[in-house]
Amino acid sequence: MSFVKVENLQKQFTDTPVFKDINFTIEQGEFITLLGPSGCGKSTLLRCIAGLTTVDTGKILLQGRDLVPLSPQQRDIGMVFQSYALFPNMTVQQNVAFGLRMKKVKGEESTRRVAEVLKLVELDTFANRYPHQLSGGQNQRVALARSLVTRPSLLLLDEPLSALDARIRKHLREQIRAIQQELGLTTIFVTHDQEEALVMSDRIFLMNKGNIVQSGDAQSLYTAPADAFAAGFIGNYNLLDADTASRLLQRPVHTRLAIRPEAIALSVDGAREGEIRGHSLLGNVIRYRVEARGVELLVDVLNRSASDLYPNGQRVSLTIAPEALCAVA
Ligand SMILES: Nc1ncnc2c1ncn2[C@@H]1O[C@H](COP(=O)(O)OP(=O)(O)O)[C@@H](O)[C@H]1O
Ligand SMILES: [Mg+2]
Repeated sequence: MSFVKVENLQKQFTDTPVFKDINFTIEQGEFITLLGPSGCGKSTLLRCIAGLTTVDTGKILLQGRDLVPLSPQQRDIGMVFQSYALFPNMTVQQNVAFGLRMKKVKGEESTRRVAEVLKLVELDTFANRYPHQLSGGQNQRVALARSLVTRPSLLLLDEPLSALDARIRKHLREQIRAIQQELGLTTIFVTHDQEEALVMSDRIFLMNKGNIVQSGDAQSLYTAPADAFAAGFIGNYNLLDADTASRLLQRPVHTRLAIRPEAIALSVDGAREGEIRGHSLLGNVIRYRVEARGVELLVDVLNRSASDLYPNGQRVSLTIAPEALCAVA
């Protein structure tokens, strides 16, 4: 039996169908990311699981128990939102204890559990501060602590890092993943950020327009996109129609092809069928625009030394490993 099983889930707002038929299973202790562009239905799906939004039809089973008829409080689920939703007039300690009060856990046990969870998120020395005395990242850790203190079976995180600046975001995503693994807590994390999804997840569910279009681990999503949407959303794939691909490879190709920029090697030996048209410096990587046989491609090359840069107009040879050519629908 899967830990979480969602079957034929359907949800429509008055005139907007959000999703028609969502199906998936999650095993105990997995970290799943719902990844997709804004408006594709990620938050609605999460809110349906949490019970904050009603579903039209379908089942949501947690350890075999159907959650759909249950209130949010009965579901044994913790949830963290992008906006921390902390009480401004309560201290960190009081904010975290609030979740326990709802569960009728009081007194010494409450104090002990709050202290335990504040230590887990490394905020034990901040227990008596108020939210306005903390940074965004610290407030988000309070929100995380508040959702963990009730020891939920399932943790839902809706873009919890999106409001934070880049450095804090990277630190906190590692911290969330470490805590999740330490607790063995089954988690569904929502983001529109592919890097976050690739770094954090056991498996990624890629969503587009209310459908899960591909699911798998980071490496399989990254190296084998199922369709043009997946290739466009993850990585910086070169997407070539069949005619263009045939021209580039000088053999008949009958499908669209997706090629990762870092799967193309450049050298100044051999046929030199390509020409450098420009570059952008991404730091560790130099991303070239290269034209070859009338086809423009992005090619990523590791920025090993200052003398590595090819000038515009440089003639180059291109090598593409056969396994890097992904046929996409
Ligand atoms: N309460 C609501 N009433 C009407 N439409 C909504 C409501 N919430 C979300 N939607 C619509 O449902 C779609 C999915 O939204 P959402 O789940 O928030 O997407 P995401 O989280 O992926 O950005 C969007 O078209 C959005 O406008
Ligand atoms: Mg959302």
